[in-house]
Amino acid sequence: MKTKGIILAGGSGTRLYPATAIINKQLQLVYDKPMIYYPLATMMLAGIQDILLISNEKDIPFFQKILKDGSHLGLNLEYQSQKAPNGIAEAFLIGEDFIANDQVSLILGDNIIYGKLDFYRNGIENNRGGYIFGYEVTNPTEFGVVELSKSGEIISIEEKPKIPKSNFVITGLYVFDNSCSKRTKELKPSKRNELEITDLQISYWNEGLLNCNLMGRGIAWLDTGTPENLTEAGMFIHSIEKRQGRKIGCIEEIALTRSFIDIEQFEKILFSLPECSYKNYCKKVLAEYK
Ligand code: TTP
Repeated sequence: MKTKGIILAGGSGTRLYPATAIINKQLQLVYDKPMIYYPLATMMLAGIQDILLISNEKDIPFFQKILKDGSHLGLNLEYQSQKAPNGIAEAFLIGEDFIANDQVSLILGDNIIYGKLDFYRNGIENNRGGYIFGYEVTNPTEFGVVELSKSGEIISIEEKPKIPKSNFVITGLYVFDNSCSKRTKELKPSKRNELEITDLQISYWNEGLLNCNLMGRGIAWLDTGTPENLTEAGMFIHSIEKRQGRKIGCIEEIALTRSFIDIEQFEKILFSLPECSYKNYCKKVLAEYK
């Protein structure tokens, strides 16, 4: 079954003000590249090539400036606007025509995931309705919390509980079948007047159609919502890249190594880049690949 991708990159970015008064959160720098590269890279690494980017109307031209229509990366990249941050599930109303008859994976534009993505590919392959991905944190009360049985079945899902039933929280990465748009239409906005992704998950769960994979300790799932988180995420990316000499989230490298594009197309991108460490890295990738 074909899987399409949606990156939700709108929001108000209040916590990152004043930086977000000028530029969308997902265009802020996370060490050496804009934040949007990381969720895009995650989708590409799962083999997804048809991607819809949803953002605020005023910010879309900036995303288009760096990512264009995606064809240079072997992607089909489309753009649609969200008028206001009316909730994460609204992505499935905005993206209804884009999703059409396929299953879809949604990633929040401020989610950075580093590590082996088998848990994600497995969810995509085995999805029978919806798939969510859990991650252990020390501060579960700030998130949607999932409780699993010993055999991995979902026992409960609670949004920001005062007394959490587990330390596993639901990350901003999801897979849903194409009934997600229809189901979202049936949801009522919450107290904060948003179409809640938790309510969509519960709609699948009530019918026994929701599964959860845990990301495991070998994965880093990083937040970038506050100045502190953003700095820490940048430092994390910096330390791994410095140690290995390999970039995290280099979308051109992924496009080449996953055969979305060939060497000639990669050389064309390389030629268009200004002299910088990013270009030097792409040169190294090319030399290794040839
Ligand atoms: P949030 O962290 O809930 O919100 P935000 O980015 O607006 O930031 P702040 O809380 O500081 O005001 O959103 C998580 C991600 O989801 C973020 O990447 C923005 C995106 N988002 C939308 O694009 N549209 C929406 O309606 C919502 C709720 C979130």
